[in-house]
Amino acid sequence: MAEKASADVGLIGLAVMGQNLALNMADHGFKVAVFNRTTRVMKEFIAANPDTPGGLVGCENLSELVAAAKKPRKIVILVKAGPAVDTVTKQLIEAGAEKDDLIVDCGNSQWTDTIRREKEFSDRCRFFGSGVSGGETGARFGPSLMPGGAADAWKHLEPIWNAIAAKVDAETGKPIETAKPGRPVKGGVPCSAYIGENGAGHYVKMVHNGIEYIDMQLISEAYFLLRNLLHVEPEELSQIFARWNEGDLDSYLIEITADILKQRDPDHPDAFLVDYVLDTAQQKGTGKWTSINALDMGIPANSIAEAVFARCLSALKVEREAASQHLIGPEYQYNGDRNELVNAVHDALYCSKICAYAQGFQLMRAAETEYKWKLDLASIASIWRGGCIIRARFLQRITAAYARDPQLVNLLLDPYFKEQIQRNQTRWRSVVALAAQAGIAAPAFMSALAYHDGYRSAQLPANLLQAQRDYFGAHTYERIDQPRGVSFHLDWSKPDRRQIKITDSH
Ligand code: 6PG
Repeated sequence: MAEKASADVGLIGLAVMGQNLALNMADHGFKVAVFNRTTRVMKEFIAANPDTPGGLVGCENLSELVAAAKKPRKIVILVKAGPAVDTVTKQLIEAGAEKDDLIVDCGNSQWTDTIRREKEFSDRCRFFGSGVSGGETGARFGPSLMPGGAADAWKHLEPIWNAIAAKVDAETGKPIETAKPGRPVKGGVPCSAYIGENGAGHYVKMVHNGIEYIDMQLISEAYFLLRNLLHVEPEELSQIFARWNEGDLDSYLIEITADILKQRDPDHPDAFLVDYVLDTAQQKGTGKWTSINALDMGIPANSIAEAVFARCLSALKVEREAASQHLIGPEYQYNGDRNELVNAVHDALYCSKICAYAQGFQLMRAAETEYKWKLDLASIASIWRGGCIIRARFLQRITAAYARDPQLVNLLLDPYFKEQIQRNQTRWRSVVALAAQAGIAAPAFMSALAYHDGYRSAQLPANLLQAQRDYFGAHTYERIDQPRGVSFHLDWSKPDRRQIKITDSH
């Protein structure tokens, strides 16, 4: 039974993420009032966790939860993203939540919904949207947290968010050892920072996921190239990834890849499980949202989009199987040095990864203008160093890059990353060329290289493209010998070929 206004925080939604976040908060000494739509789940949860440092208070309805929480109330909601978030927020308000209370949506909500909700509920409560990354283990022992909402309300949530977030070493940026039940990590810098107004937190979480998509796709392509060119067993690849995890590529995703590749199939102990996993990728939509947003804002996040399309292509399993009988690729046998290929794929992965992050950070830069936010890119990189799915050693480098130059136009222009790509690009190119020669699909490697080469080109073929547009649709073109904004049209197919100066839009 709920006690009167003694809980530091309320939490709604006791699926795995909700349970784990509640236990994480309780481990840090916060008293957590919990509610779940199915009361049995709440009761089982309370019964299974009788002795947490902060304590759990079970609530059978939302009025009890509201009554149990200290003011200003901090109520975390972990329900399915979408209409359920609106419903629960309205129900909380009906149950007595007040104008100063913070309602914090921790699901993977679309940032535009969070912008709308923050506005819609502004005279009834203070609506926050917080990105939470790290999966179930992260939620339990230290996620990366990306909160967005009213700046003046953040101070109420900050102590809780700082306490439960993953921690990294202040100097090196390396994650500090994982917490244990009832024993939270002491010291370190929390992977949580106020991101900005209204939907900024959910936006940044979405970009995190877009980067997650391309990071995973690049690693999968590296695996696939080595597997098919060197004909090695997954176990040997596991050792290669484990070795890579000790250098520049050190990251959670490389670490779990090494672990995945060495695991035997429970049903066929002589074989590896990865070989029995069906090659059709699913998706819940955050990568797609990132790509749509990139298209809407006109930002070339082509590798992120490519990673989404790679999943779509993988899902066409039946079609691909049929096509494989008809569409014949090259006969190719790799006869080069094996170690050289492994090192080349390593470098291609690192260079491509830099491009992927450059695209994600470009998106956030553009979103500042689009949504009138002030995003601290160094701080965002710093809270991705631990806890989240894309945590990686090289995020320390990205943090340093944006700390050195907060106005950095593109990550590729940072001296460290510029030097890395300059040093490794020959091998990167050789891997892309090899993939093309061997007929092995490597869309992420290829699109990252195309991004890099396009971005560094002062001249692109868009001159011809503009001429074509003007030819068939009188869409006009600008000239290199005229000021920007001055447009021209030519009657390309008419005998007199008259060029007309159209407008000066500046
Ligand atoms: C995280 C993950 C998490 C979830 C993805 C999976 O940061 O903890 O990104 O949010 O695992 O949304 O997304 P897909 O199902 O689309 O791969």
